[in-house]
Amino acid sequence: MATNLLSVLERRPFTAPLVVVTTVLLLFLLASEGSYSVAALSAASLIALVLFLRQTAALARQQREAQQLVQSANDRLQFDVTQRTAQLTDLTQHLQTAREDERNRLARELHDELGSLLTSARLDAARIKSRLAGSAPDAQERLAHLVETLNSIGAMKARIIENLRPSALTLLGLATALQILCREFTEVSDIEVHCAIEPIRLRPNAELVVYRLVQEAVNNITKYAQARNVWIKLALNQDEVQASVRDDGIGFDPHTATRAAYGLVGMRFRVEAEGGTLAIESSPGQGALILMSLPVSTLAAAAAVDPL
Ligand SMILES: Nc1ncnc2c1ncn2[C@@H]1O[C@H](COP(=O)(O)OP(=O)(O)O)[C@@H](O)[C@H]1O
Ligand SMILES: [Mg+2]
Repeated sequence: MATNLLSVLERRPFTAPLVVVTTVLLLFLLASEGSYSVAALSAASLIALVLFLRQTAALARQQREAQQLVQSANDRLQFDVTQRTAQLTDLTQHLQTAREDERNRLARELHDELGSLLTSARLDAARIKSRLAGSAPDAQERLAHLVETLNSIGAMKARIIENLRPSALTLLGLATALQILCREFTEVSDIEVHCAIEPIRLRPNAELVVYRLVQEAVNNITKYAQARNVWIKLALNQDEVQASVRDDGIGFDPHTATRAAYGLVGMRFRVEAEGGTLAIESSPGQGALILMSLPVSTLAAAAAVDPL
């Protein structure tokens, strides 16, 4: 009842004077019939009621205006945050593309420049070897050592190039590239690697994102996890593509942001730029799970299934 009255007072400010005028008329009638004390009392209470209602209405109006101000400030903030997040996602994507381009350029230079220097050094070594044939055993031994060193440099060059620009990914596809990554990881670490990779092909960008995510997660496991087992999965579920890397190591608190640690942050932005989500689940002593979900729209065009 009071609320109704309040809203009426607010919507029609002339209601209050109208009530007062009506009351005065009523009182006048009562007074003309001789009931002065009743009339005076009623007049005082009515005026008090009207004043109270007006005051309350003004307060409510002020409160609503303040709420509207807060709401519009919130909306503006929300808009700014959304816009900044979109800008950051774009920037990350741009930086990642620039980074991949730079990696490609470096890989090309290593392949061409270092490759030709190595070839020429090997040729020289072969010529010297033929000149030394049957003489200077000391020099021959040195030369054999030099050839070995050149071969090691060649192998290192190939490894660096593969790391910079995973040729397996472009030539053989995601699933095979991940199988190779699993195999290499098993070879260089004491960790038991369990690989469950479905033969899925994604669009090139998405394949690179998944590959780099697994690479980063595996690097982190090597550096920090002290794990005994690692599970690497790639699967197509009903409505999304999921890639995950889990370990049974020492774990960590994902909410404690480490300064200057951009591996996990970079992962999240790259996954989100592909329309996906990234979950990092871990706590001290409980191992870690990095789970990435991508929409099925990232699947490559029809029938593009990795032959494995
Ligand atoms: N699998 C893991 N096990 C234990 N700790 C981890 C693991 N992955 C990440 N971390 C912790 O999270 C931090 C952030 O990782 P990351 O963002 O990749 O940065 P960076 O590798 O450059 O340190 C690491 O410094 C490490 O403390
Ligand atoms: Mg890292």
